[in-house]
Amino acid sequence: MEKTVQLYEGKAKKVYATKDENLCIVSYKDDATAFNGEKKGSILGKGVINNRLTNRLMQLLEEKGIPTHFVEELNDRETLVKKVSIVPLEVIIRNISAGSFAKRYGVDEGIVFKNPTIEFSLKNDDLGDPLINAYHALALELATEAEIETIKAFAFKINDILKAFMLEHGIELVDFKLEFGRLPDGTIVLADEISPDTCRFWDVKTHEKLDKDRFRRDLGGVEDAYNEVMRRLLGDTK
Ligand code: TMP
Ligand code: ASP
Repeated sequence: MEKTVQLYEGKAKKVYATKDENLCIVSYKDDATAFNGEKKGSILGKGVINNRLTNRLMQLLEEKGIPTHFVEELNDRETLVKKVSIVPLEVIIRNISAGSFAKRYGVDEGIVFKNPTIEFSLKNDDLGDPLINAYHALALELATEAEIETIKAFAFKINDILKAFMLEHGIELVDFKLEFGRLPDGTIVLADEISPDTCRFWDVKTHEKLDKDRFRRDLGGVEDAYNEVMRRLLGDTK
């Protein structure tokens, strides 16, 4: 399958049409942004790592019964996916306090929750992706009640699967962001990416950060962290 026209360019990926109207090609960039695009940079090799990691994790989730947009990895940076219309919600699951949660509620980072949390943000860069609740999403007709229930159920199941998988590789899954899409027949599937850009990963023993917080917070060792996650989860550094 080959790319035809570019449909969209985001901060970390480009999306192309193909000759099949139901399929798109996602191309992962090395570009990195933070704080709604205020901070810009590049993480060498990130596109390759995020492409390969996302595909591995989507395949794992499919095996465990979660429908995803994944079709086929085409090359190091490009993947064939089902064309979806994205539900404009960022779905965030948290197992441990960190980031905006710690800041908003005035708590330390690193508090392990007895129960995971879920929150939604409106996917709108102009507004800075504001936090919204399920009633707001319904009022704004971003999704139906049934779709929101499906998304919540998938998100918690994805958390269980990914948390266990990460732990097997010495990684604590602190929190992560998911996006879902609708197929033409209305089926909800997991879309977007699952990578160190969109998850917080801490080393189980040292609690060292192995994710994009190294870039956001100028901690150094950004590329090393991404490579380490790939080494642990894919067993190589190809
Ligand atoms: P937060 O603590 O900044 O709200 O981030 C929660 C999780 O969501 C974290 O794993 C990083 C991820 N995330 C994104 O994928 N995209 C974003 O734009 C933001 C703000 C967070
Ligand atoms: N990628 C996001 C942005 O630039 C933020 C982040 O991941 O921290 O808005």
